[in-house]
Amino acid sequence: MPDNNPLEELESLRVAALGELDTIPDEVGLDAWRVAYLGRSGKLTQVLRSVSALPPAERPLLGAAGNKAKVSLEEHFGARRTAINNVRLDALADDAIDITLPGRQATVGRLHPSTMILREITEIFRGMGFQIVEGPEVERDYYNFEALNIPKDHPARDMFDTFWLDANKDAEGRFTTLLRTHTSPMQIRYLEAHQPPIRVVVPGTCYRYEATDAAHEWMLTQIEGLVIDENISFPHLKGTLESFVHRFLGPGLETRFRCDYFPFVEPGAELSIRWGDRWLEMLGAGMVHPEIIEAAGLDPERYTGFAFGMGVERFAMLRYGIEDIRNFYQNDLRFLQQFRGVS
Ligand code: PHE
Repeated sequence: MPDNNPLEELESLRVAALGELDTIPDEVGLDAWRVAYLGRSGKLTQVLRSVSALPPAERPLLGAAGNKAKVSLEEHFGARRTAINNVRLDALADDAIDITLPGRQATVGRLHPSTMILREITEIFRGMGFQIVEGPEVERDYYNFEALNIPKDHPARDMFDTFWLDANKDAEGRFTTLLRTHTSPMQIRYLEAHQPPIRVVVPGTCYRYEATDAAHEWMLTQIEGLVIDENISFPHLKGTLESFVHRFLGPGLETRFRCDYFPFVEPGAELSIRWGDRWLEMLGAGMVHPEIIEAAGLDPERYTGFAFGMGVERFAMLRYGIEDIRNFYQNDLRFLQQFRGVS
C-alpha cells in the first residue's frame, strides 16, 4: 500500500474540482476546467488509469469510486453550465437590452426619380423602334462643340456654360476636354460608326457650369434622339415627338413647335406643351444639319434626318408635380423616399 490512501486522494481531488467549478464565471473557464479534470490527460482520468497498476484485489473498489467521482463531476459541470447560461439570459432580459422591442426596419433602396422617368421615356422610344445607346460623360471639345458646327469662339458656345477639365490643352493653351454639356456629341460618335437607317436614343448625364435656380441645375439628365434615313422630313419629327408626349403625359395634351436655333440643326425648333394656362418649353429639336450628314460621309441629297434633346428632370417635374429642379440631386431622403415602386 502506498502512503496515501488512493480513495482519500480521489475524494480530495473531487472536492477541489467542485470548489473550483463554483468560482468559474463563463464558458471559457468551463472549458478549461473540463479539460483539466475530465479531459484525456485530465487529473481524474489519470487516477482512473492508474487503477490497472493496483493489485487485482484493490482494483474494483477504486474503479467504482473513480467512476462515481467522474459522474459527480460531470453532473456538477452540467449544472454550472446551466447556471452560467441563465445569468447571461437574465442580463439580456433586464432593461439594459429590451429583447421585447421590435427590430429596426431594414432600409430598402429604391430608384432615383430621374432613373424611373428615364426608363419610362426610353421604353416609349424603344416601342417606336429606337435603339438605346450611351456615350461618355467626359467628352472632347471636338464632339461636344466643333463637329456640331460650333467652332472655337462661336457665339453659340455661350448657350453652354462648360465645366472644362484641365487635363488636356491644345497648342494655343485652350482646354480640349470637358464634361459634356448635352448628349448631342453622341450624334457625331454614332454617325462615325454606323450607317443609315439610324434610329437611336441616347440617355445620359450632362453638366452645365451655370447659376442654379428652380428651373436650372448644373447636373441634368438628357435624352438625345437621332434618326437618319432616306425620305425623313419635318413631319416625322413632329409626329414622333407628339406621340411621345401623348404617351408619356396623356393623350389630349396640346403641343406647340416654334422656331429655335441650334447650330447643328436646320431648321431648329423647340417643343412646348400647354400645362394649365402656361406653355412650357420641353425640348430642342430640328432637322440634322446637311453639313453634319456630309461630314459623316453621307450624301445629304439622299439622306436626311432629325434630332432632339430633352431634359429628363423637366418631364419628371411635370409628372410628379415637383416645383424645384434642385431637389433632384440634393439627396435629401425626405424627397427621394416619395418615389417608389416603378422600376
Ligand atoms: N443639345 C441641345 C441642348 O442641349 C438640344 C438639341 C438636341 C437641339 C438635338 C436640337 C437637336 O440644348
